[in-house]
Amino acid sequence: AVAVAATPEWPGPVFLRGLLSGIRCGVVAIDRKGALVLINRHGCEILGFDESPPEGTPFDRALADHPKLVRVLREAFDLANLPNRSELDLGPRRREGTRIGFTVSHVQGDDGEIAGAAVFFKDLTRIERSEEQKRLKDRLAALGGMAARLAHEVRNPLASIEVTCGLLRRRLSDNPDGQQLVDRITDEVRRLNTTVTTSLEFVKPVASDLQPGELMPLLNESIRVAEGRHAGGTIFITRRCEVPPFRMDPDQLRQVFENLLINATEAAADPGLVEVEIERVPAPARASDHDAWGEFEELVVVRVSDDGPGIPEEVRERIFHPFFTTKSQGSGVGLSTVKKIVDSHGGLIDVDRSSLGGARFTVRLPMIFEKTTEVEGQHR
Ligand SMILES: Nc1ncnc2c1ncn2[C@@H]1O[C@H](COP(=O)(O)OP(=O)(O)OP(=O)(O)O)[C@@H](O)[C@H]1O
Ligand SMILES: [Mg+2]
Repeated sequence: AVAVAATPEWPGPVFLRGLLSGIRCGVVAIDRKGALVLINRHGCEILGFDESPPEGTPFDRALADHPKLVRVLREAFDLANLPNRSELDLGPRRREGTRIGFTVSHVQGDDGEIAGAAVFFKDLTRIERSEEQKRLKDRLAALGGMAARLAHEVRNPLASIEVTCGLLRRRLSDNPDGQQLVDRITDEVRRLNTTVTTSLEFVKPVASDLQPGELMPLLNESIRVAEGRHAGGTIFITRRCEVPPFRMDPDQLRQVFENLLINATEAAADPGLVEVEIERVPAPARASDHDAWGEFEELVVVRVSDDGPGIPEEVRERIFHPFFTTKSQGSGVGLSTVKKIVDSHGGLIDVDRSSLGGARFTVRLPMIFEKTTEVEGQHR
């Protein structure tokens, strides 16, 4: 006779630990006595821990940098209605302004008594940022489309005016004064045409010519350009790593780093400090935003930091908008161009505060080695 198990075997602690650690949401669990049972990997990332504090540490000590989270957990054993979908700002260990959305649950023991409590949380700041980036991308695309249509509608009549002026000029062959007037019209028409064309350059979506290229030489070149603009006043520190050639448009990427570095030197103290860090990191597990790009396993991350005044929270959202500038001589085109280029490389750009005290721009680019036809179709 074959014995049939009535219920599937209950998974062991290793399975459960693996399950919790893999969850894409932060988890902190404590027992009834207030000893830390677990902070999962995602939780450590959000809370700013390089590694989890040891199990058994009193939770208020382990989470000393996040007093609000400590309070939430402490109240967990007293409250009848536990917080569900609440929000709070994390403490100083995390870079300022990290907001989490959280839910608190009791953990029941075998006897049905409350054996512990757990908080489940998500980094809302990151979610909001990626939503904002998506909205901005849509807006830029809409603006680009509108400008292209407008330019088309304006250029056609301009061309027709120019041709008509030519005809008129011929009819006035014995009237030099009349011809001069016609010439003036033609000149102005040409000027208008140039204005329309150049302003279209600003807003039209960029088309990237992607082929395997080297990051380091173009970064070095950009640093030289920025140095040249601010002779001697700013010191550049570079932390680099090996980066194999990947698919990029080198001229466009040079534009990206030149803009970021020139902004950084303009913002930096006098004499100032600008730091460029290059790092390779594994691609996020879910790279769904860039499905069109196919598979990639690594991102190259370039951070440009300065010791200037930083970017006030109120304007942080607007700096990537076209024509936003706080400089008397600025055109506000730099960062919106940077954003478009990074987008067309399937990358992301983000800004926060640097450890030098000023702004820190982070550019993340997928390192794609394969030449896929899909990419050509999408971005040419
Ligand atoms: N490193 C930085 N530190 C502080 N503020 C910055 C920094 N980089 C950009 N900004 C802010 O973002 C705004 C927009 O930058 P952007 O490069 O788009 O335009 P701009 O530098 O003003 O003009 P330009 O078109 O000449 O580049 C700047 O005016 C400034 O307020
Ligand atoms: Mg600029």
